[in-house]
Amino acid sequence: MQKKQPIGIFDSGIGGLTVAKAINALMPNESLLYFGDTEHMPYGDRSPEHICAYSETIVNFLIQKGAKIIVIACNSASAVAYQMLKDKYQGQIDVVGVISPVVDYIISKDFKKVGIIGTKATIGSKNHENLLKNQKPSIKVVSLATPLLAPMIEEGFFNNSISQTIINSYLSNWRFKGIQSMVLACTHYPLIKKEILKYYHNAVEVIDTTEIVAKEVMASLESQKLLHTGKKERIDFMFQNLLKASNELQKYFMGGMSALRK
Ligand code: DGL
Repeated sequence: MQKKQPIGIFDSGIGGLTVAKAINALMPNESLLYFGDTEHMPYGDRSPEHICAYSETIVNFLIQKGAKIIVIACNSASAVAYQMLKDKYQGQIDVVGVISPVVDYIISKDFKKVGIIGTKATIGSKNHENLLKNQKPSIKVVSLATPLLAPMIEEGFFNNSISQTIINSYLSNWRFKGIQSMVLACTHYPLIKKEILKYYHNAVEVIDTTEIVAKEVMASLESQKLLHTGKKERIDFMFQNLLKASNELQKYFMGGMSALRK
């Protein structure tokens, strides 16, 4: 393994770009290889078997393309495929998921009641909840599957009245009353973080996966002595069936990509 090899990142679609962006900001010398499985999006509505199979195929592809570390920039895939991938590639390549780093962050804070929103696959797995309860049995965790949000974002509906209405309808669930923190357990959701903060009038800490996971990736590369200090060689994005995306979304892609390239 060489330092100049790229960081391999994948998600079901554009959501993982939020993680890629944070990785790029923290480690500007690193080359990135991003795969968005838009053909099979949304992962959140698929069975664990399907998500595991897609994830394994993508990891093999990223390894074949020269990745030196794999980042599962998707909560749904992290929830059901992380352990399988970690075990399978042990000794070959390190695999970083988005759930444990966020759970560790929550534990480091003094929250008594936290809300979690994510896809059906993520919430159904109870991964966050179990990990949190194992470490801190007294913590109150309220989880809600919000399956409309990722496809809504993928289709370019955010920062508008439609997205705000859907977000409000999910967040007004009475079970979230009294939370000190809302965890965005889907990598698409940082794109609607502003709207979520607006709902809470900034009175609740809204936690996303971006910077926390970027730090975890950096720590892994450092410990393996794989952190690249030389010149960045490339950023490659691959999306399956990109035509599915709306014009607005394609504009976001371009903006996102050029922002990443800067
Ligand atoms: N961005 C993904 C996640 O973090 C998945 C969205 C989806 O494909 O359902 O869960």
